[in-house]
Amino acid sequence: MRHLLSVDDLGADGIDEVLRLTDSFVEVSARAIPKVPALRGKTVVSLFFEDSTRTRLSFDTAARRLGADTMTFSAGSSSLKKGESIRDTVQTIEAMGVDALVVRHASSGVPDQIARWSSAAVINAGDGWHQHPTQALLDCYTIRQRLGSLEGRRIAIVGDVKHSRVARSDVTAFTLLGADVTLVAPPTLLPPSLEGWPVRVSHDLDAVIDEVDVVYLLRMQRERMSEALVPSLREYTAWYGLTPVRADVAEARGVVIMHPGPMNRGVEIAAEVADRPNVAVIDQVRNGVPVRMAVLFLILGAGSEAFSAGPVESEPLVAAGGQA
Ligand code: NCD
Repeated sequence: MRHLLSVDDLGADGIDEVLRLTDSFVEVSARAIPKVPALRGKTVVSLFFEDSTRTRLSFDTAARRLGADTMTFSAGSSSLKKGESIRDTVQTIEAMGVDALVVRHASSGVPDQIARWSSAAVINAGDGWHQHPTQALLDCYTIRQRLGSLEGRRIAIVGDVKHSRVARSDVTAFTLLGADVTLVAPPTLLPPSLEGWPVRVSHDLDAVIDEVDVVYLLRMQRERMSEALVPSLREYTAWYGLTPVRADVAEARGVVIMHPGPMNRGVEIAAEVADRPNVAVIDQVRNGVPVRMAVLFLILGAGSEAFSAGPVESEPLVAAGGQA
């Protein structure tokens, strides 16, 4: 695999491969010096045209733990402000010698476009409403960690599906690994057409909480809305928020609660609920680093050939890495 632009680039076997390799990097992350020299001499650039806390820091940490050099580009403080195009920006950065570009952009398709221009590997870190493949990978890893497997599990994705690249990537990844996905949202927050989506739809969160193994909450992505899609946030919370009462039901049933962050406490999740033991949000963030190490290793490291040829032998990598 040369680029990672969409979950579809991986398929079920590819996802499995990343998750298996992630186990090795979880082990590395637990060491006193959580580093291996697998990508020494490689340069990974974060090319972020849109805000990020988790994803950017997570990729950066992952690249450093593999021994790569990192550079960070922030649109807000760059020559884009002086009118430079994305293409010229990419060429300028590439001229410095880079091996991978980790790209986030508010418009769908920009990472695909950059992949066509660039000789470096491109990893999509979120584009518009389209895809966020590494989020889906870390979500799958987190569910496996909590529940053992996704096979036959029932997962509800709740909230602003319409504007969510996370939902699009998660629906594909969860389904590929054998889970059953139900979208729970008001009609105004669902995509105009769900043709081809392997999902059920419900408007009754209370009924769904009684049946599922995982409730995946989405943020109300107000920066992506051009009109009012819910009567009020209070109304939204009453119908679709994880209120303390719903959280009690979920906790009693052992339902795993997830959220990609950033959370709007008091909107999609009640403020005091977010820190309960069945809420896996911090696990998701923690798992993001080893998952992204696995992705970078498969694309840039010794894994890049093994990945297209078949299973990767991850043991020697970790052993050889030592703690030097
Ligand atoms: C998400 C994103 O930016 O796509 N956050 C993330 O990467 N963890 C979700 C969001 O913005 O709501």
